[in-house]
Amino acid sequence: MEFIVDTVNLEEIKDAVDHMPIVGVTSNPSIVKQTNPENFFEHMRKIREIIGMERSLHVQVISKNSDEMVAEAHRILKEIDDQVYIKVPVSYEGMKAIKTLKAEGVKVTATAVYDLMQAYMALAANVDYIAPYVNRIGNLGADPMDLISNLSDRIAVDGYNTKIVAASFKGVQQVRDSFNFGAHAITAPVAVLKQIFANPNIEKAVDDFNKDWYAMYGENVGIC
Ligand code: E4P
Repeated sequence: MEFIVDTVNLEEIKDAVDHMPIVGVTSNPSIVKQTNPENFFEHMRKIREIIGMERSLHVQVISKNSDEMVAEAHRILKEIDDQVYIKVPVSYEGMKAIKTLKAEGVKVTATAVYDLMQAYMALAANVDYIAPYVNRIGNLGADPMDLISNLSDRIAVDGYNTKIVAASFKGVQQVRDSFNFGAHAITAPVAVLKQIFANPNIEKAVDDFNKDWYAMYGENVGIC
């Protein structure tokens, strides 16, 4: 089970990796736009410094043409490092770029997945991660969990090493369902992951334990 954060905000990433078992960072051009870094590659290198080589960094190409996507992937790998996962949308052109990059031994995260057949195509190309867009699929009136569960079964039956990294989340329930239906990983905004701890009962339990301790031993007697 992998928790990944979907942001390029440096403070958010630092805070998230300090507090939670985060194993990677993803983004797309729209997410990058929210932070609007002056120098994209310098910013990505700062993210790598924060997360280290032990966590995964997924960076998306921007072109619509396969040759340009491959050229962008090469630039990303040169400017950041050769361990970056290249996020490629599973369009017809994207599939061609995915095939080329996999043949070169590049790590690929197949993204913009709305449909099971799109996911199967990416799977057959042996990508490393497949990112179904949970919230966006739901908004189209389809069932994202149906996609995740079928894809997860197919990966297991055929023995692929590909992981499902469910993406596009607006709430914790979507994240939980994704894991329960077979996602190996999720990538979510930090605000969504922090909602897991926003239950006031947790704070109340901690307060009660705290009060009972000091009622027993007095205000100035802690454990340390
Ligand atoms: C993953 O990296 C996706 O690009 C991202 O989760 C999409 O999220 P959105 O549907 O909130 O734009």
